[in-house]
Amino acid sequence: MTDTLEIIEHIPALRRRLDGAGPVAFVPTMGNLHDGHITLMRQARTHGRCVVASIFVNRLQFGPSEDFDRYPRTFEPDCNKLRACGIDVLFAPNESELYPAPQNYFIEPPELGNILEGAFRPGFFRGVATVVLKLFNIVQPQVAIFGRKDYQQLQVIRNMVSQLALPINIVSGETARADDGLALSSRNGYLSATERAEAPRLYRVLRELSSAIQAGATDISGLEQAATEKLLNNQWKVDYVAVRKQADLQFPTASESELVILAAAWQGKTRLIDNIEVSAG
Ligand code: PAF
Repeated sequence: MTDTLEIIEHIPALRRRLDGAGPVAFVPTMGNLHDGHITLMRQARTHGRCVVASIFVNRLQFGPSEDFDRYPRTFEPDCNKLRACGIDVLFAPNESELYPAPQNYFIEPPELGNILEGAFRPGFFRGVATVVLKLFNIVQPQVAIFGRKDYQQLQVIRNMVSQLALPINIVSGETARADDGLALSSRNGYLSATERAEAPRLYRVLRELSSAIQAGATDISGLEQAATEKLLNNQWKVDYVAVRKQADLQFPTASESELVILAAAWQGKTRLIDNIEVSAG
């Protein structure tokens, strides 16, 4: 393990460290790093001379009844993982560094931020977009990497970067999965053994729906309903199963071929999200 990781907590010190160090490739995270994050870090290395990760559990993107307080914070193991994959700099601000005064300027995403995840987690994308823009302003990366597991988040950030003409190339990374198909997520750690055994059903149901579309099925709302019932019949609580256009997450027209199936559903008290891209047959 090469210990070249520099851990920096303060904005002026980070700016000094990054001055002239670029191109900078940046991977923002909320910590509790798993193989999905590590894949993004490795990908970042191919895009920058200096790779910067951040760990910051962003209060702004959690609703009042969500898991901000119990969100897993595993700083030391996270640092070891970042060292092991050769990350140059970890920006790990505390709340008073990033929000020295109550944040009252926000990025308000358009309608894209109010559908799907945004409908079930009001304010979520406003919190995400605001902190991501702030982190971009601090780190000033040339490239930033976001996982496709958070498909809608990736779209919101791409749109923000495009609309605000930020000089940052947004690169997406693949969803990392356990052997049984469950998408890796920091929230998987909340699952009991029974829930963990049931959790891969979410991806299986998405794959079945995807196969039906590839085979030519066109009754989108019937397919969404059938997938939802498969989950409900196995004690899931379902927020949504939705087939949308990859480009803008709007409802697909009959001629649309590039689709994405997105789902959010609960195993007990744990909310899981997943998605799968599909080209209609
Ligand atoms: O995907 C995440 O971990 C967070 O939403 C992000 C992008 C780091 C912003 O807090």
